[in-house]
Amino acid sequence: MEGTSIPVFFFTLLFLLLSSDCASLHNLSANQAIKDGETIVSDGEMFELGFFSPGRSTNRYVGIWYKKISTQTVVWVANRETPITDTSGMFKVSREGNLLVTGGGDAVIWSSNSTLSARNLNPVVQLLDTGNLVLWDESSTKENPVWQSFDYPSDNLLPGIKFGKDLVTGRERYLTSWKSPDDPSIGLYSDRVDTNGYPQLIGWRGQVMLSRLGPWNGLGFSGFPSDIPNPFYSVEFVINEKEIYHKFELTSTVVQRVFLTWDGKTLHMHWLERTQEWAVYQDMAVDGCGRFALCGPYGMCSSLKHPPCSCMEGFEPRHLKQWKVSDWSSGCRPKKPFNCGIGDGFQKFKGVKLPDTGRSWYNVSMTLAECEVACRRKCSCTAYTNLDIRKGGSGCLLWFEALMDIREYETGQDLYVRVAASELKDYMVYNRRQGVLIIILPISLALLLLSALAYAHRIRKKTPLKKGQGNRESGLDKKNSSMQMEHLDDLPFFSLYKVAAATDNFSSSNKIGEGGFGPVYKGVLEDGREVAVKRLSETSQQGFDEFKNEAVCIAKLQHRNLVKLLGYCINDNEMMLIYEYMANKSLDSFLFDEGRSSMLDWPQRFRIIHGTARGILYLHQDSRLQIIHRDLKAANILLDSDMNPKISDFGLARKFVGNDTSDKTKKVVGTYGYISPEYAVHGRFSIKSDVFSFGVLVLEIVSGMKNREFSHEDHRDNLLGHAWRLYKEDKSMELISESIRTSCVIPEVLRSIHVALLCVQHHAEDRPTMLSVVLMLVSDSALPPPKQPAFFTEENSRELDPVSSVDEYMITLLYAR
Ligand SMILES: *[C@@H]1O[C@H](CO)[C@@H](O)[C@H](O)[C@H]1NC(C)=O
Ligand SMILES: *[C@@H]1O[C@H](CO)[C@@H](O)[C@H](O)[C@H]1NC(C)=O
Ligand SMILES: *[C@@H]1O[C@H](CO)[C@@H](O)[C@H](O)[C@H]1NC(C)=O
Repeated sequence: MEGTSIPVFFFTLLFLLLSSDCASLHNLSANQAIKDGETIVSDGEMFELGFFSPGRSTNRYVGIWYKKISTQTVVWVANRETPITDTSGMFKVSREGNLLVTGGGDAVIWSSNSTLSARNLNPVVQLLDTGNLVLWDESSTKENPVWQSFDYPSDNLLPGIKFGKDLVTGRERYLTSWKSPDDPSIGLYSDRVDTNGYPQLIGWRGQVMLSRLGPWNGLGFSGFPSDIPNPFYSVEFVINEKEIYHKFELTSTVVQRVFLTWDGKTLHMHWLERTQEWAVYQDMAVDGCGRFALCGPYGMCSSLKHPPCSCMEGFEPRHLKQWKVSDWSSGCRPKKPFNCGIGDGFQKFKGVKLPDTGRSWYNVSMTLAECEVACRRKCSCTAYTNLDIRKGGSGCLLWFEALMDIREYETGQDLYVRVAASELKDYMVYNRRQGVLIIILPISLALLLLSALAYAHRIRKKTPLKKGQGNRESGLDKKNSSMQMEHLDDLPFFSLYKVAAATDNFSSSNKIGEGGFGPVYKGVLEDGREVAVKRLSETSQQGFDEFKNEAVCIAKLQHRNLVKLLGYCINDNEMMLIYEYMANKSLDSFLFDEGRSSMLDWPQRFRIIHGTARGILYLHQDSRLQIIHRDLKAANILLDSDMNPKISDFGLARKFVGNDTSDKTKKVVGTYGYISPEYAVHGRFSIKSDVFSFGVLVLEIVSGMKNREFSHEDHRDNLLGHAWRLYKEDKSMELISESIRTSCVIPEVLRSIHVALLCVQHHAEDRPTMLSVVLMLVSDSALPPPKQPAFFTEENSRELDPVSSVDEYMITLLYAR
């Protein structure tokens, strides 16, 4: 309909008018009432209760919304199912202690059904600054009000709500979505704590289980990356005889809520004071593996693989035909049937999201060894693990049915799965440390051959002439060939002719740089789009692997702070990637250039810091793939014509697989000056190595100096050491580059330096995740003091190879299987 915007505007106005300070009270006592248009306000004015109309609806509802911030965000609704159709509504508390919404005279539209424990106890209704509407009487304590809205959440989980079940009263507190933005009545979706077996968090669509965050493991949910300790909130999960609940509390002034949208998304949102908007920092179901039991029983889901489902080691597809056509629902079965007792063993799986615990058994005091005995003793026991992963692990969790909804996960835990002992042996060898080395050589050779074959096969299929036919029908055998190349199917193909025309036949005047693999050209496509063409001319296997890696990685990524891959071109032995063109080249061409550094003022630099952080956060957490970049540096941050930062160069990027073991690599790659100590010395890398590089980058942006080339007359520390010294002496201001002295906003610069120092702390566990980094940059909350950074000097670092080696690449492949 034309004119839809007019009613929205009109009702927005109406909403504001009706909910403005016509009259507002702090408390309501017996027989007192507020009319439509009047409100109750919490003492600190954080929340307000009154009548409102959602979206385009004209119905009136009693609800609670934020008052100081984001005034139209309603977090709780009383009469969700029973709106009032005019403005005759009243909200009151009866002498008996019943909260009532009435309309059209005295008709009761909604009632809290609460009663006082005795007569004449003077009920008082109060809206707290937590957003909790409570009804007290003279006998009630702070913990035990007569009634509270926190016991009946709507679609918002506010800090302090006990999300779960009261086992004494049987009352369950869970989230239910609105039907639509215009209708707060109970919609399709709900989020609940499932208290069958070992409790876990589950998202439902009607009666269908949609997604599972998994059980609590002492630190977080087994199936969701957590950031603990998190400077912005703390979480707990309580299980005892009286109650089972999950709760989060704020540990900073950043306003937060968990919101179940009408269309079924569960979002952890933060209010950004700076920009006055709600930002989504965690979306609880980020990728394809988020769907419950996608891969069937004993299927392992990995969002990094294509197809995402595989059978767990020791298991095979139950129905091979169905499995091959991507119908994984029937899952997998043991390759050799279990025969109980000595015939069986337990295969350890590292880094997984624990299977559905709906029918599991647990005991909090047993050890892992006792747990294994318990599982071995019962023939029907299919798997076991620790309940709590803190302090080396404790407690016992047992499964007694086919394992469902398992996935590989970076922050996942260990799971021990029953398999026939004959199946087990191979893996024992494989897992043993020396075993890996012995096996690796033959396997890496085989893989090398395989991938070369796949490459050849691919090129045959990808010749421009054959494009548009045959790609889909060969679906089956494709899956057996190089899975890595699959992803290129999503990318537009450019013919060599087109690329050559765009770059003036790769003329030297179009050459704009030399990347790790070959020259980069500027070009203009027929349609006028400016592009950068990266050309891999040599057919060296190493270059090809990285090139391929980059293409696969970046093809799937879409974020405004990542450089965009427009397409690729393969012709004979040549491979090219076509990117959007970045008019302002790379950040280092500004930062470290005396003439150009003055062209980047502080507001621009801060935008670059923030944008880069958002880009890395996306890589680590929000993208479907979850990627560690491994080579973040000023030269890899490109700037578009508006000076927006775009992260580039994914040649060394690595998808997360498993946990610590698979994070190890024999050969360290990356750029000296930006790599973290644990990576440089032990070859151990994780998302925290990217955080380290980001910290270095921020210090370089602020100081205009290169970490690597930094020198100081008074000491021999590098830039990190220098920044740390200044911070300790409260002289961080001295770090600021001459070229931004006039444009800088002091609190922002100091905050950036502080955050950077947190990022470059020596121990990876001390460094914040990118989620925290982004929040810390934009919020005003207090920051934890940084510990001493890792500053290692030139002498104790070894020569670093700029190119990843085949060996190391293969190890990852091996572990990734
Ligand atoms: C509201 O009621 C509470 C509980 O009875 C009381 O502590 C508080 O002082 C009251 N506030 C106002 C403004 O009357
Ligand atoms: C109060 O009780 C009535 C009648 O049993 C019921 O329909 C209504 O849903 C109850 N209200 C609440 C808020 O539970
Ligand atoms: C849990 O295990 C401990 C130690 O084995 C045992 O003493 C206790 O009774 C068990 N608790 C339950 C509820 O089974």
